[in-house]
Amino acid sequence: MCGIVGYIGTKKAVPVLINGLLSLEYRGYDSAGLAVLNHSSALKIVKDMGRVKNLQNNPELDSLDGSLGIAHTRWATRGAPSKNNSHPHTDNSETFTVVHNGIIENYDELKSFLADNGYTLHTETDTEIIPNLIHYYYSKNSESGILSAVSNALKKLEGSFAIEVISPLLKDTIIVAKKDSPVVIGVGEGENYVASDIPAILSYTRKFYFLEDFEIAELTSDSVKFYDFDLNSINKEIKDIEWDAVASEKNGYDDYMLKEIFEQPTAIRETIGTAFASDDKINLPLDGLDFSKFNKMYIIACGTAMHAGLATKYIFEKFAKFQCEVDMASEFRYRDPLIDEHTLCIFISQSGETADTIAALKLAKDHGSTTISIVNVIGSSITRLSDYVLYTHAGPEIAVASTKAYTCQVTLLSILAMYIAENKGLSNIDGFNELKSDIIALPEKVKSALELSDSIKELAKQNYTKKDMFYIGRITDYAICMEGSLKLKEISYIHSEAYAAGELKHGTIALIEDGTSVIGVITNPQISSKTLSNLDEVVTRGANIILVTNQDVDVSSTNIEENSIIRIPKCSPLVSPVIAVVPLQLFAYHTAKFKELDVDKPRNLAKSVTVE
Ligand code: AGP
Repeated sequence: MCGIVGYIGTKKAVPVLINGLLSLEYRGYDSAGLAVLNHSSALKIVKDMGRVKNLQNNPELDSLDGSLGIAHTRWATRGAPSKNNSHPHTDNSETFTVVHNGIIENYDELKSFLADNGYTLHTETDTEIIPNLIHYYYSKNSESGILSAVSNALKKLEGSFAIEVISPLLKDTIIVAKKDSPVVIGVGEGENYVASDIPAILSYTRKFYFLEDFEIAELTSDSVKFYDFDLNSINKEIKDIEWDAVASEKNGYDDYMLKEIFEQPTAIRETIGTAFASDDKINLPLDGLDFSKFNKMYIIACGTAMHAGLATKYIFEKFAKFQCEVDMASEFRYRDPLIDEHTLCIFISQSGETADTIAALKLAKDHGSTTISIVNVIGSSITRLSDYVLYTHAGPEIAVASTKAYTCQVTLLSILAMYIAENKGLSNIDGFNELKSDIIALPEKVKSALELSDSIKELAKQNYTKKDMFYIGRITDYAICMEGSLKLKEISYIHSEAYAAGELKHGTIALIEDGTSVIGVITNPQISSKTLSNLDEVVTRGANIILVTNQDVDVSSTNIEENSIIRIPKCSPLVSPVIAVVPLQLFAYHTAKFKELDVDKPRNLAKSVTVE
């Protein structure tokens, strides 16, 4: 997963390219590079290892005065992180220059093909295949033009790609093409932009085209033309993106992650939107979908998005009366799932570009299932593959560790469960109206939970040197623990495990010793005493515990200290993940800050895993 940027217009290209790369660093940052077609028509390439700021400070940029350029920030997949492997890459004759996000899966076959035709690859990357393949087709039939050569080359590629192509032969043009990797096109006045996502160029324009798979765009400074891979012309509509440019900045917070944690009340409110606007029925864009034809449902996603599914499985079972299975997309895609036209498959994805989730979605469609996707990024690949799309309105989530997207996903899934119940004539179920009130009250209750930040910071200070943290809970509380544990792991690098509290006695409690840290979550009155006794068991074996709860637990007869309890606002256990996760997000954030780690860009991780 890498980031690509492009500019063509009247301004100097370099500042636009660098700004775009800085915004895209969350996608990868082991090296960066750019290529500019100077006014002298000389094409100059500059690359650097490490963060984008290394490229930004490279004095070679001073000589680049051109207004046409492409750029790339890399997260190495094939070929180690190195200056030579960083993009852009050219063909042997340096006629075509390409940046690429994705993976060319038939690399070996094409490398042999090019070798048989006299081409030599000078890097370890799969990307270098592309400009050489374009050159091969162009040299075979230059009368057909460069667009034809690009089209022929693209048809040979297997795998995923979002690419930009420039050439001294293409005076005022950038060619863009897409299959399975994200790319958007920004439209300006006498200038046009390309980027892997909206925020990278949002400060320049709010007008966007969204390229679909197997489409090519031909950008000049005052036009954008679209074609399919057979070069048939395509008409596309411009979409206006309301995201304010500031919304993509940090708004004064130290980190995107903290900004996004504190944006949750607004994000949840925006996500609830007009769902409950009318008294007679819940309003979701699912008109015409008859849920009575389904006999079961799957929720399929990855990482935090999958945890949102785990947290809402119980609501679908209770209100929608669906047997609900939650599965990791990376597992589902290689199983032979028992799904058909009577199965409803719900996919959850913040980015809408996660490769495993896309593959699972395609598998579900191949089996004839109806697909609904819960997505945060407008126009992303998953939205265009799904039968129905429900958008979380969390706004851009830049930090790699997902926070506001999770709480918005749980909120929207809860609303969807209620919508299905209503559609199936089940809205008279006990608790239905209370759940609606609880959902509407979530923004304010999350705001109250955020006020715990300072006390949680103290608890993080007491624990940031720990090597292990355990999270225990039951039913929905266990799902909350899964998310809290992942947050801690991915930004503080502390080993952590979430366990169903009832499982401790089946082996895990052997790990508990003097000083072991355990976080318990209790938001369900039905199992409150059970989890409390599990916590007491670990305390008697020397553990230090933190208890996150909205129950009036009485610890007087236990060894649990009152000051180890974090009390959060009461709500239905069915939506408690939205509130209970907040202290766990803050605990992970403050722990990582005490360890002086980069919470927005954790090691080894990328925001959107667009490759397997
Ligand atoms: C979130 O904290 C993680 N970084 C990661 O698990 C993420 O949730 C997962 O990769 C799925 O991403 P998506 O929601 O964009 O599909």
